[in-house]
Amino acid sequence: MFLLRVHRAWPALVAACLAAGCEPADTENPAPIAARDVSQPAGWNDDLAMPVPQDLNPDPNVLEIELEARIADVEIVPGTKTPAWTYNGTLPGPMIRGKVGDRVIVHFKNSLPEATTIHWHGLRVANEMDGAPGYTQEPIPSGGEFRYELELRDAGTYWYHPHTDSSAQVGRGLYGALIVEDPADPKAFGDDLVLLLSDMGLNEQGELLPADSGGNFGDLFGREGAVLLVNGKVLPTLKVRNGKQQRWRVINATRARYYNLRLRNHRFMRLGGDNGLAARSEDIYNLILTPGERADAVFTPADLPGTQNVLRWVPTERGYGSTYNRSSEPLLAIETVTDAPVVPEAIPAELRKIEPIDVSAATQRTLDLTIAIASNVEMGVNGVPYWQAKPFEIALGSTEVWRIVNNTDFSHPFHLHGYFFQVLDENRVPEWKDTVNVPTKSELTIAVRFDERPGTWMFHCHILDHAEAGMMGHLVVRDPSAPQPAVTAPHAHH
Ligand code: C2O
Ligand code: CU
Repeated sequence: MFLLRVHRAWPALVAACLAAGCEPADTENPAPIAARDVSQPAGWNDDLAMPVPQDLNPDPNVLEIELEARIADVEIVPGTKTPAWTYNGTLPGPMIRGKVGDRVIVHFKNSLPEATTIHWHGLRVANEMDGAPGYTQEPIPSGGEFRYELELRDAGTYWYHPHTDSSAQVGRGLYGALIVEDPADPKAFGDDLVLLLSDMGLNEQGELLPADSGGNFGDLFGREGAVLLVNGKVLPTLKVRNGKQQRWRVINATRARYYNLRLRNHRFMRLGGDNGLAARSEDIYNLILTPGERADAVFTPADLPGTQNVLRWVPTERGYGSTYNRSSEPLLAIETVTDAPVVPEAIPAELRKIEPIDVSAATQRTLDLTIAIASNVEMGVNGVPYWQAKPFEIALGSTEVWRIVNNTDFSHPFHLHGYFFQVLDENRVPEWKDTVNVPTKSELTIAVRFDERPGTWMFHCHILDHAEAGMMGHLVVRDPSAPQPAVTAPHAHH
């Protein structure tokens, strides 16, 4: 600890020189090496590589891919095979990556033994592409196909996952990253690294635990798998060079687990999250992500050359029993190469102009997140599970303010489909979000503008066990000038 502190206080160039083994006499006026003049260590992200899909379309602004959901054996516990549910046979599924303005065409085939759909979490897609079963499309049966077409309108870090029997299907491995780049982003943010976090419940033979493991308590608490994965691997290694920045795009693709990421001797510069950049960068110690949420942050390696460190999962309070008797867990090994340190780049303080939503004429609503425990656990919004819920009727172009109240013993990550919202809280750096934590015994207020894309959209708790237990609802945005769309009756997907 003492040595590390001393090292951090030294000018980086002296440390650089010592690490390179040069004589003190040579250090009088050496030109500092700037991070922009060096590259990441060779093979820095090899262990974290995710498959990329083959692009079938020659147009550089169109990504056209095939995606097949199927069961495939993957090695997670060394020496065993796990029959995971996958996209294209890999865990996670392929990383879909484009730039703002691109179009993505997905030829999807369902080769699972059950029906499924794909939801493009966070993307402002056309309503009929949202993957909400019973609302925007019928579930795609086993053996069925569906063509999704998405416009990448907003830079940011997103992901895709099924929306039928979602806790079970996501828990078995169905998820992938979807990144929308903004070519105008400052280079100072560093080299891009996507970290898709997930967990799995496995036995020693590598077999998946049943999707209903833990019974009612599993529904109530939310099912956390004991095996922690980063980009589909247990404790992979990332190579870094002191001072050479990396832009981490972190995605929480678990069913129920909250992440608090900590790295000894380091802080992070948070850039934003769900919908790309926030208004300002923020120097933080804990990177916290609820299920479904994303974080975008600059990591500046500060460990001595030739040393090891570990990014850890630290228990986070999310209600009853969530931190009791639990210790931290290693997630990602960080190896600082022996190359001389470099001088990091300055991260801009102001990142993006975010105009507050005008709420002066907004419709107010209260959404009370509720749990009823009888013979089984039934969750809901305003006391009603999704299979009995009536939609909120919303006129196209209107703005709403929702007070989201949580008097239950658990925290709930609230997620809205189709629209970004702003949390009305002066203590937060302004940003656009699609998923926000509503801590146990608390409430918060969000503002949403239903300005386009009429249709039926869902909202729910992103602890997927809670969603499936009823904590979901939907709304219908109607265009008064258009013929009224027929509302499909919600279905239960158990
Ligand atoms: Cu990522 Cu409806 O969810
Ligand atoms: Cu919940």
